[in-house]
Amino acid sequence: MELFRKTVFVTGSTRGIGLAIAHKFAQLGANVVLNGRHVIPESLLETFSHYNGEVLAVSGDVSNEADSKRMIAEVAKILGSVDILVNNAGITNDKLMLKMTQEDFEKVLKVNLTGAFNMTQAVLKPMSKARSGAIINISSVVGLVGNVGQANYAASKAGLIGFSKSVAREVAGRGVRVNVVAPGFIESDMTEVIPDKLKDAMLAQIPMKRIGKPEEIAEVVAFLAKQEYLTGQVLAIDGGMTMQ
Ligand SMILES: NC(=O)c1ccc[n+]([C@@H]2O[C@H](COP(=O)([O-])OP(=O)(O)OC[C@H]3O[C@@H](n4cnc5c(N)ncnc54)[C@H](OP(=O)(O)O)[C@@H]3O)[C@@H](O)[C@H]2O)c1
Repeated sequence: MELFRKTVFVTGSTRGIGLAIAHKFAQLGANVVLNGRHVIPESLLETFSHYNGEVLAVSGDVSNEADSKRMIAEVAKILGSVDILVNNAGITNDKLMLKMTQEDFEKVLKVNLTGAFNMTQAVLKPMSKARSGAIINISSVVGLVGNVGQANYAASKAGLIGFSKSVAREVAGRGVRVNVVAPGFIESDMTEVIPDKLKDAMLAQIPMKRIGKPEEIAEVVAFLAKQEYLTGQVLAIDGGMTMQ
């Protein structure tokens, strides 16, 4: 898919991996929709002012179905229908399973998995009608191999893979592709809070011996959006962490 002037909605793009993805698409000439739960500051929008495409800020909570529909309708009024959706918004709420409550579990599922469902549901009909579209879901290597203290997060990210493959099968014949990126350990606010001892243990498991950069994930997301004959795949970008 040619990205020039296509409209890309990146959920959770006020910082970290989502923001890097938004910049990558903007560099490639796409119109970009930024999203987060809170009002998006003008100063963040200004960092997009040197690109040729449009940039639009749409605040809302992806875990809320009505909010998701409202956001896509807002975009439709200004930029037209969404050509590419990147379901990137995600949270963690780490606890050992013995201490995890149902509330802890469901809170993470609601954003990471139901959020992707809500947003996909909101764009899928117009994409199917247009017989064109790309959805890229940001999972995690934790969804592939699990992690201590992250039963909720791992379940959400593994669920996202099953969800993506099912939707990919349903809409492949209609020209809509659904793929998954599974990042490893990437620099962001989410990993900043991990204690140093745990970070060292994680680094020891990475054959490339370094933490990844948000821009490295963004490159692959843009590639998946462009590549016309690729659907239902999971690409781990993890410095070799999960190679088999
Ligand atoms: N960093 C890593 O090492 C790593 C590894 C594997 C996978 N991932 C995945 O990559 C994605 C991005 O991670 P990150 O590290 O960049 O996270 P981050 O720095 O914590 O950023 C998360 C983004 O999601 C937004 N967000 C959170 N809840 C939301 C909601 N309910 N509705 C809309 N937006 C919401 C946040 O904005 P507001 O707070 O303003 O709402 C923020 O823009 C996540 O899905 C994460 O699970 C990250």
